[in-house]
Amino acid sequence: MRTPFVVGNWKLHKTIAESLALVTELKNALGALKGVQVGVAPTFVSINPVAKRLEDSAIATCAQDCHWETHGPWTGEVSPELLADAGVSWIIVGHSERRQFLGDSNEVVGKKVPAVLAKNIGAIVCCGEMLADRDGGRMLEVVDAQLGAALANVDAAAASKLVIAYEPVWAIGTGRTATPAQAQEVHKHIRSRLAGKLGQAAADSIRIQYGGSVKPANAEALISEPDIDGFLVGGASLEAADFIAIVKAARPS
Ligand code: 13P
Repeated sequence: MRTPFVVGNWKLHKTIAESLALVTELKNALGALKGVQVGVAPTFVSINPVAKRLEDSAIATCAQDCHWETHGPWTGEVSPELLADAGVSWIIVGHSERRQFLGDSNEVVGKKVPAVLAKNIGAIVCCGEMLADRDGGRMLEVVDAQLGAALANVDAAAASKLVIAYEPVWAIGTGRTATPAQAQEVHKHIRSRLAGKLGQAAADSIRIQYGGSVKPANAEALISEPDIDGFLVGGASLEAADFIAIVKAARPS
């Protein structure tokens, strides 16, 4: 019922030339693939060249972040509107690296999400607990607080433009993936929270991606869980062969 959605978050990697080389490979390998939606999130400087290269392809160009205002005295910032103009159709909001190191509090994320949706751009809203939260049994509380703030001003009409990415911080870039059962437990909880906030029909339609050390070797087991609807892939999205294998694993059989 939900088309799986796999996005490569390239973080701070790849020159324009390297970005173009990678998307050209992805386009050739995945351009005709059915049953799964694919996106890549390059750095801001590579977005427009990548979007142009992907113009005649179903692969979406995504951004890794944005500001909440459309324009104004915000040195260094980029707005959803400018990203759409550059060719972006989805924006990642509230990634844990931004939350931990770059000032994206729950409040900031709560301003960015409606700003993205207001421009008719898709929002990939990230949440996930730190290791201490999991060890302390607080993971669901943390995720609830993050999503509560992120979705405070979002209603069910936005469901088709909303994706949630559950990324436990202890699994990001560590090689330590959540087990399928650990991820499923949180994904199921998130879907029940979405149902409470947006209604069951909206909750059933919203894709919930898993992120955190997703690799070709673990993608299939993760995607077979009922509430895992795709992936937000970091390290393994930088190599065409690995990313292609993950996308193919996410395709319904
Ligand atoms: P890794 O796949 O490198 O663990 O990164 C996950 C992530 O943060 C994607 O947004």
